Amino acid sequence: MKIGRNDPCPCGSGLKYKHCCLGKKKPGTGGDLKDTYYRRHGIRLKNADDVEKIRRSGRLTVEILEMVARALRPGMTTEDINTLVHEHTIANGAIPAPLNYRGFPKSVCVSVNDEICHGIPGDRILEDGDIVNVDVTSILDGYYADANRTFFVGEPSADARKIVAVAQECLRRGLEMVKPGGTTGDIGWAIQTYAEGQGCSVVREFVGHGVGFEFHEPPQILHYGRRGGGIVLVPGMVFTIEPMINLGRRELYILDNHWTAVTEDGSLSAQFEQTCLVTPEGVEVLTPYPL
Ligand code: MF3
Ligand code: CO
Ligand code: CO
Repeated sequence: MKIGRNDPCPCGSGLKYKHCCLGKKKPGTGGDLKDTYYRRHGIRLKNADDVEKIRRSGRLTVEILEMVARALRPGMTTEDINTLVHEHTIANGAIPAPLNYRGFPKSVCVSVNDEICHGIPGDRILEDGDIVNVDVTSILDGYYADANRTFFVGEPSADARKIVAVAQECLRRGLEMVKPGGTTGDIGWAIQTYAEGQGCSVVREFVGHGVGFEFHEPPQILHYGRRGGGIVLVPGMVFTIEPMINLGRRELYILDNHWTAVTEDGSLSAQFEQTCLVTPEGVEVLTPYPL
């Protein structure tokens, strides 16, 4: 049987045959995908050894998030969270990636209520009813894994429950689109469609990203967009999905600290992030926590 130029490539890349192994010396091996993706998109595909290292870094990242979850209570400061994350990271032979990253002064991002992302730990005291996003990135054995969750402090309001549930479901639906032959646009489309259907809005200024060898690598993963748009997903891609969802309007501004993004209308904002791998079968989450 002859493979058509427009058929899916037999190597499992998810690309059309003509854009992949057609005309290659060993057709169907997919051996050139690594070169093709780097040349075309600047994307560095990960091999099995790379993936195992990111998986280990990811396990530590999740462990740190779980430790923060156990410690969280009204009355503690965001600096207390920084201390916990920093010490636990170092104690496990890892490095907290945020520290000194482009001048970021702390080891973790902690974003409360209307803060969308990049909150800087300090003397702010967490209060009953707050929502707090904790975004942890570890470098273990040179490999980066990036994940975050939004937690309740004490008893949440109905609004708090809603925005956290919607943001979490956005990440779940985004991950559901990850498989060879899918596209980065499918992920954004799934997230935007759900969030806006719930009357919430999607932040545009910050995006998911390739990760593993560095903190932020190509490609960008938009949390909005068109089905079928963007880049075709292929096995070995590792990237984050990290939708930031606002209860009100999507507009934001940056605080005088030059880092923290907050909603312009003062509405609550929530985020969930995981690092994932495209596998031949679909997706493996490398920072696994239940969604
Ligand atoms: N962890 C964030 C992300 O998900 C990036 C934080 S950059 C920092 O991509 F400098 F603020 F740490
Ligand atoms: Co990220
Ligand atoms: Co992050």
